[in-house]
Amino acid sequence: MRCRRVACLLLCMFGACSASKPNFVVLFADDLGFGDLGCYGHPSSLTPNLDRLAAAGLRFTDFYSTSPVCSPSRASLLTGRYQTRSGIYPGVFYPGSIGGLPLNETTIAEMLKSQGYATAIMGKWHLGYGDKGKFLPTKQGFDEYLGIPYSHDQGPCQNLTCFPPDIKCFGFCDIGTVTVPLVHNENIKQQPVNFLELEKAYSDFGTSFITNSAKNKKPFFLYYPSHHTHYPQYAGSGAAGRSLRGPFGDSLLELDDTVGNLMSTLEKTGEINNTLVFFASDNGPELMRMSRGGNSGLLKCGKGTTYEGGMREPAIAYWQGVIKPGVTHEMASTLDVLPTIANLAGAALPPVTLDGFDMAEILFNHGKSKREVMMYYPIFLDEKYGLFALRLGKYKAHFYTEGAPHSATTPDQDCPGTAIFKTHDPPLIFDLEADPSERYPLPLNDRPDIQVVLEQIKNAKAQFEATMVFGESQISKGSDPNLEPCCNPGCSPKPTCCHC
Ligand SMILES: *[C@@H]1O[C@H](CO)[C@@H](O)[C@H](O)[C@H]1NC(C)=O
Ligand SMILES: *[C@@H]1O[C@H](CO)[C@@H](O)[C@H](O)[C@H]1NC(C)=O
Ligand SMILES: *[C@@H]1O[C@H](CO)[C@@H](O)[C@H](O)[C@H]1NC(C)=O
Repeated sequence: MRCRRVACLLLCMFGACSASKPNFVVLFADDLGFGDLGCYGHPSSLTPNLDRLAAAGLRFTDFYSTSPVCSPSRASLLTGRYQTRSGIYPGVFYPGSIGGLPLNETTIAEMLKSQGYATAIMGKWHLGYGDKGKFLPTKQGFDEYLGIPYSHDQGPCQNLTCFPPDIKCFGFCDIGTVTVPLVHNENIKQQPVNFLELEKAYSDFGTSFITNSAKNKKPFFLYYPSHHTHYPQYAGSGAAGRSLRGPFGDSLLELDDTVGNLMSTLEKTGEINNTLVFFASDNGPELMRMSRGGNSGLLKCGKGTTYEGGMREPAIAYWQGVIKPGVTHEMASTLDVLPTIANLAGAALPPVTLDGFDMAEILFNHGKSKREVMMYYPIFLDEKYGLFALRLGKYKAHFYTEGAPHSATTPDQDCPGTAIFKTHDPPLIFDLEADPSERYPLPLNDRPDIQVVLEQIKNAKAQFEATMVFGESQISKGSDPNLEPCCNPGCSPKPTCCHC
């Protein structure tokens, strides 16, 4: 047995002592809300494979990403650090972005490579492309990459057709840039990418990565940040029209099918008992897409906001024979994935300030979380304001609130972009156990107990912010159209000639 610390003893107790290091499969959905999966109560979603992982694994009710948008939340998942530290703010990367996740940040993949792991990523990177692809995943510890390096609406994809192919998808994309490329390692394999065959390409890539790693007796880490269910929705012929929920449901079903394929590959290769599968989502649903967007269930608002709907996510941990089935109400975060994996792989933690905690006690014992607080940073985070909200135990205080265009179209007037920036002094405070929908701010005047809680929250905030060192903003470095990925680099006129 080569793993270390408490988790190892626990693993032995559950009969999973083994001579080899465990494998990790991290599945990360895109803009998928708290209420979107069948196992989180959605009545018409079809997610049999994820539901099975939830039924036979541990389902989280209080799991958080660190941002209500993509790039920062991906940075935090891979580094175990708030996006402030790595400089992944404000907003998200664009195809021609000059910056990227700084190469001196240590990702889960780099940490595991030093332990002899094979590492691969398939899907949406969104942590920079940069000059000659200098910020691609292969520069951050991944041996192999197949995917689109950013969001698939960051290109002229408005002609993306759903199935059947003569029906136009809904809405608009970025029309001034190159068409969306499919990158293999550091090369553009296809531009524009064929969306309707993309999921099959991922499924095949993941299957062959797992199969080869098993054959070579190498422990492995597969990271699958899916494009589903980010706008615009698409699904190949295997999933299109099969869900009851329309284009969003089909797109989610296609993701779920891939999860099923990866699980059966783990079975076939005999790796199923030695693999931790972890599922979460990067941020809340894009409510502005109406019935073609996701759903935050009973949580308030969605993508782009620091209400619960923006950052509280579905999450599932599955490890056959090791994690007992159940539901946990403990607070946990994408930040906690790196420290947990470090423990299980026997890897040293990166020598930097980490914001995550090992989840072993939650996973293997249904025990207590080491996490007591969760910080909520807005999209356009600015050192001048810092945190918008903070959760301590079951209480959450909002110091600032603001709606977001991404969360438009629901009847709640606090959600859309027209809900302007507001300072709350005293902060709005909610009991998230009694009132998960953040509807009823607790009255401070006649509640001395809540005044005490508020003081604790203010202290936690002051302490955290006093020691926060903001990394140089990578996104403020701006964009250069010459850096947009082009399969035909010398061609003109750009961007239309980038077509291979
Ligand atoms: C990475 O390098 C930058 C620039 O030198 C530095 O400010 C930052 O602290 C470094 N980050 C890490 C994690 O070492
Ligand atoms: C989309 O389709 C329209 C009509 O078929 C065409 O004129 C336009 O150039 C297409 N746009 C892109 C970006 O492919
Ligand atoms: C996984 O563990 C179960 C229960 O111990 C066992 O029946 C099964 O054969 C194991 N599967 C593999 C592939 O080792």
